[in-house]
Amino acid sequence: MKGAMTRGVFSVVGRAAGMRAADAEIGLLMSALPVAVVLLDARNRFRYVNPAGEQFLGLSAAQLAQHRLDDLLPPDNPIFPLLAKIRRGEATVADYDLTLEGPRLRKPGITVQGTPLPEEPGSVLLVLQDASTARALDRQLTFRGAARSVSGMAAILAHEVKNPLSGIRGAAQLLEASVAEADRELTVLIRDEADRIRALVDRMEVFGEKPIERGPVNIHRVLEHVRRLAQTGFAAHVRFHEVYDPSLPAVLGNRDQLVQVLLNLVKNAAEAVTGKGIAGEITLLTAYQEGVRLAVPGSADRMHLPLVVAVRDNGPGIPEDIRPHLFEPFITSKPSGSGLGLALVAKTIGDHGGLIEVESRPGRTEFRLHLPMLADASEL
Ligand SMILES: Nc1ncnc2c1ncn2[C@@H]1O[C@H](COP(=O)(O)OP(=O)(O)OP(=O)(O)O)[C@@H](O)[C@H]1O
Ligand SMILES: [Mg+2]
Repeated sequence: MKGAMTRGVFSVVGRAAGMRAADAEIGLLMSALPVAVVLLDARNRFRYVNPAGEQFLGLSAAQLAQHRLDDLLPPDNPIFPLLAKIRRGEATVADYDLTLEGPRLRKPGITVQGTPLPEEPGSVLLVLQDASTARALDRQLTFRGAARSVSGMAAILAHEVKNPLSGIRGAAQLLEASVAEADRELTVLIRDEADRIRALVDRMEVFGEKPIERGPVNIHRVLEHVRRLAQTGFAAHVRFHEVYDPSLPAVLGNRDQLVQVLLNLVKNAAEAVTGKGIAGEITLLTAYQEGVRLAVPGSADRMHLPLVVAVRDNGPGIPEDIRPHLFEPFITSKPSGSGLGLALVAKTIGDHGGLIEVESRPGRTEFRLHLPMLADASEL
């Protein structure tokens, strides 16, 4: 059964790609792929599934051959509008954070990418990934929940630490006037350290739950501002490249917060290429990418995120031990880092309803932000 199903589909795949490769070769290729690949025909019947796909769906290819996708998932599953969109020929479409839930299947946090096969009208090739395969493939996604846990802590810190701190600082200042010269050094130390804690708490405070004010933001102007700040300061030695889509519409966001986000990303990039014996390069990119959608929590709506803003560097890549916790607060590999930069980035992009993707290997690390555009304000 499996063989027959596989054979039919391979000829489809082969024809679509205009190839004459042997079925066996394509079969080997598909089996080796660590991601689930599924081919549906125009009636959502399973025409092909690779071994990773069988594992993903929890059914063998032989079993799947008896079913339509509609048998596995209820009709209101968001994958069906996605399939309709792909069949309308809108090129490759990606949807993040889908939940595939049916009588035989329960998979939250799925990324689905689909593409139509033009030579087989109605056929759709799907690639399915859950969060763990995304990690295995060296890609990391953060969703709006990332760094949320920090919010509560920030509020407590701000409240419980700041008050006693100002008491300590005040007392040290009073002492300063009365103690002997030799001890003054100590009171100054208390004051300075209190100031340092205060600055840290202030930085944490942005994690508090405050609604953000959003409007149209020209992201190229934001990037220009960030680049100028970087080049006159911490990234003076780094070469910048700009790869912009000049027709990009305005982002729906908060300008100051987006400056902060991009500053943090550019600062990390600059730190990653410094002192590594390479000619440091940072590339800032913008692009319009149809088809990236993200679930809106607590509703069936999908948020449209067509604007891509990316920061790429040619540094050594994100250290292995940091990767699983990249966006968590206080995670740092730097002697004097606070580890708050990316936690803040995740929180802010989450507040914007956006999505972050990371790809990192030696010589190329890229943080990609997917953001909503102004015209979609009604979708929020
Ligand atoms: N572009 C990058 N290349 C390599 N590693 C990175 C990159 N960006 C982040 N990292 C890793 O992720 C860690 C966390 O980054 P994050 O910005 O949250 O904190 P930090 O830079 O260490 O400190 P802070 O931003 O508070 O000064 C970094 O310490 C570094 O190990
Ligand atoms: Mg940082």
